[in-house]
Amino acid sequence: MRKRMIIPAVSAALLLLANPASAAAPTPGDPGIGDPYYPTYGNGGYTVSHYDLRLKYQPSTDELQGTATLLTTATQDLSRFNLDFALDVSEVLVNGHPAKFSATGEQELEITPATPLAKGSNATVVVRYSGVPSKVSRYGFTAWLRTPDGGVAAGEPESAWWWFPSNDHPSDKATFDVSVLVPEGTQAISNGVLTSSSSQLGWTRYNWRENKPQATYLATLAIGRFDVTTQTSSGGLPVINAYSRDLGDNDGSARASVERTGELADWLSGIFGPYPFSALGGYVPNVNTHFALETQTRVFYSPAQFAGGANPSVVVHELAHQWYGDSVSLKRWSDIWLNEGFARYAQWLWSEHEGEGTAQELADYLYATHPADDPFWTVKPGDPGPANQFHPAVYDRGAAAIQALRNAVGDDRFFQILRAWPAEHRYGNATVADFQALAERISGKKLGDLFQTWLYTAAKPAASTAALAKP
Ligand code: ARG
Ligand code: ZN
Repeated sequence: MRKRMIIPAVSAALLLLANPASAAAPTPGDPGIGDPYYPTYGNGGYTVSHYDLRLKYQPSTDELQGTATLLTTATQDLSRFNLDFALDVSEVLVNGHPAKFSATGEQELEITPATPLAKGSNATVVVRYSGVPSKVSRYGFTAWLRTPDGGVAAGEPESAWWWFPSNDHPSDKATFDVSVLVPEGTQAISNGVLTSSSSQLGWTRYNWRENKPQATYLATLAIGRFDVTTQTSSGGLPVINAYSRDLGDNDGSARASVERTGELADWLSGIFGPYPFSALGGYVPNVNTHFALETQTRVFYSPAQFAGGANPSVVVHELAHQWYGDSVSLKRWSDIWLNEGFARYAQWLWSEHEGEGTAQELADYLYATHPADDPFWTVKPGDPGPANQFHPAVYDRGAAAIQALRNAVGDDRFFQILRAWPAEHRYGNATVADFQALAERISGKKLGDLFQTWLYTAAKPAASTAALAKP
């Protein structure tokens, strides 16, 4: 009797599991990936493994047209999903079938495939689009920088929306092929290596490839008249740099800085371990802005970075990001200290190396020159808020936090930690909590108080970095 009762019950349960009709119905992917600072950035329900961007750009009018092919994998049974994008879309195909689409919000492209996507299945998404990116404003700004002879996509966290549709969040990294058709005589610069270029009908096509996972904000595109220089690094990698032909008085100082990319990357690899990517370099377009950005393998520098003469320190900063930010990327934007604190600390080490002040001296100077009532101390480097992501506190107090760590664990353990992080999380994503755990594991010390004091307290630490060394 008992046996008879159990067997049918078990088979019924198995049937229930195996019967697709009993599975939950496919649901729409979230319009955001869940970042507390930027709830609408990135999307839920799928990941992207590769972007193939085939573009055509006319510098005289700033007209961009393109076809983006995304290789995706559904992470849920998906009835609908979003991409982040701001240009005009004319057609979307999912697995070869026309899909319904509509633009919503500031940068959402909502796509409804003809048939739902099963969890775990791959889908090829093709998006055809066009636009004049400099004319497209989102949240009151455009990250597309117009130059006299072309345009540049560079911005953090936002830049992708103005040139390709994406799952725009650093937690979803992918490889990239970027192919750009421009009028003959104009150059197109992007990440990685130039696999080929060819001309016909008065147009030249440049094919760029980044073969290591790359966050969407680290993808870059520059079109204009550039002088491109090529070297081979001591490790045998291509060093490709590009300078606008229109840099005027900053031309010499820009080249005297960026041409040192190979040397400075070698120096950094002595600290952080092997350089993580297959190419390196930087480009200096003729833009009227005041920042640099660690776009993967091909750093963006505005000419203003070199207005005061050569600036190898900014090159050190952006190259340090290739380990801290690009190879090991953020899981959420609130952890920006993992990028900027370490890139600034690399500049402090460079200063030490150059005999221009040790990291300890720079940390002490920062501490001495910012009194307790300075609003500088109210920004928490470990959680600065979206409006203060690039506040000096994230960089400088962030670097002082790293000096405090160095003093707490000693030089041997400290430099071991600096190398272990990019080794253990290479090409991945991680959090500040992951970093603290790694530092505690290697040092054998509890570092909760130190992290709390230096990263998560909106007040000047009571003791300088050096004093923290002695428990
Ligand atoms: N990560 C950049 C740096 O290395 C900061 C970029 C700030 N973004 C901007 N659009 N200004 O400092
Ligand atoms: Zn930086």
